Amino acid sequence: MERVVSGIRATGKLHLGHLVGALENYLKLQSEYDSFYFIADLHAFTTNFEDPEAIKENRKEVMLDLLSIGLDPEKCTLFIQSRVPEHTYLHLLLSMIVPLPWVERNPTVKEMIRDLELKESASYGLLGYPILMTTDIILYKASYVPVGKDQLPHLEIAREIVRRFNTLYGKLFIEPEALLTKFPYVPGIDGKKMSKSLKNDIKIADTELETKRKIMSAITDPQKVRLHDKGHPNVCTVFAYQRIFNKEEVEDIRKTCKSGELGCVTCKKRLAEKINIQLRDIRAKREELSNNLNLVNEIFEDGSKKARNIASKTLSEAKTLMKIDGT
Ligand code: ADP
Ligand code: TRP
Repeated sequence: MERVVSGIRATGKLHLGHLVGALENYLKLQSEYDSFYFIADLHAFTTNFEDPEAIKENRKEVMLDLLSIGLDPEKCTLFIQSRVPEHTYLHLLLSMIVPLPWVERNPTVKEMIRDLELKESASYGLLGYPILMTTDIILYKASYVPVGKDQLPHLEIAREIVRRFNTLYGKLFIEPEALLTKFPYVPGIDGKKMSKSLKNDIKIADTELETKRKIMSAITDPQKVRLHDKGHPNVCTVFAYQRIFNKEEVEDIRKTCKSGELGCVTCKKRLAEKINIQLRDIRAKREELSNNLNLVNEIFEDGSKKARNIASKTLSEAKTLMKIDGT
């Protein structure tokens, strides 16, 4: 069976961007492929190295999020990147063969440096972000990688690295392909990309009240100032959410917004209600799991052992091809 791999950094609780941009695909694919999903806690250090305690806490939060949305350890392998040390070894080997310009021109890393205002404090590890990500994928010889749109440049580098390795040492790795969802880009309440790091997100774990409060403060069409002004749904963040979370009413909302019948306050209230209904079961399950952390840890420990078995086999193959297997 073909394999799927994807990871989420341990940088905070997950939000609606993750849910519709990546996790909905995770769910679908767990029944169709041999799927591996992991918490990229080493990747979290590329930007959050000053706060290991937070990374530890976030590892737990992401575990809860992944299980609460319905990922099932009977169907997929759930693991933690740092529990599979083979990732670090292969990362080092790959870093030897990757030409510097490939990582220097990576637009996603450039955006991270800009958005997080890292400038001089951007680390060597951050530059190597796509190399570690490549490792995460090819250690499992995955054919497909479900991710959001922002990750496509990384995937392109992964494919280039695979080609380079295979040409230099022999054909071992598969060129992975990205799988996007129907909504690969979800804006945050400020109109920029919804992101844990930009504090513009609505979290899976938020309460219904917090969700409503955030939606009520979301930016809308700047030209619709008064209730009966005619709106422009295509430039409105709240309308982008209506398209995702309120498919039944979206056409009516488009029409009445454009004609000036519908005001932003009513529109937002309708949306908040829909989102809260859709998240109710997930939130209840999350609450339940948070009272059973031993079980949660056990699931990820077992998954990490399973992942390690496969990863160590692939690493041995790579070392043999590179003539560093001790023979
Ligand atoms: P963040 O940018 O919030 O720190 P991550 O980088 O950990 O989140 O993203 C994890 C996965 O979720 C990736 O596949 C990413 O492409 C996807 N993702 C994150 N934010 C969004 C978004 N706003 N819209 C669509 N997909 C997203
Ligand atoms: N870079 C991804 C993100 O920020 C996380 C990630 C790390 C990943 N390793 C991966 C995604 C391997 C897919 C495959 O979202």
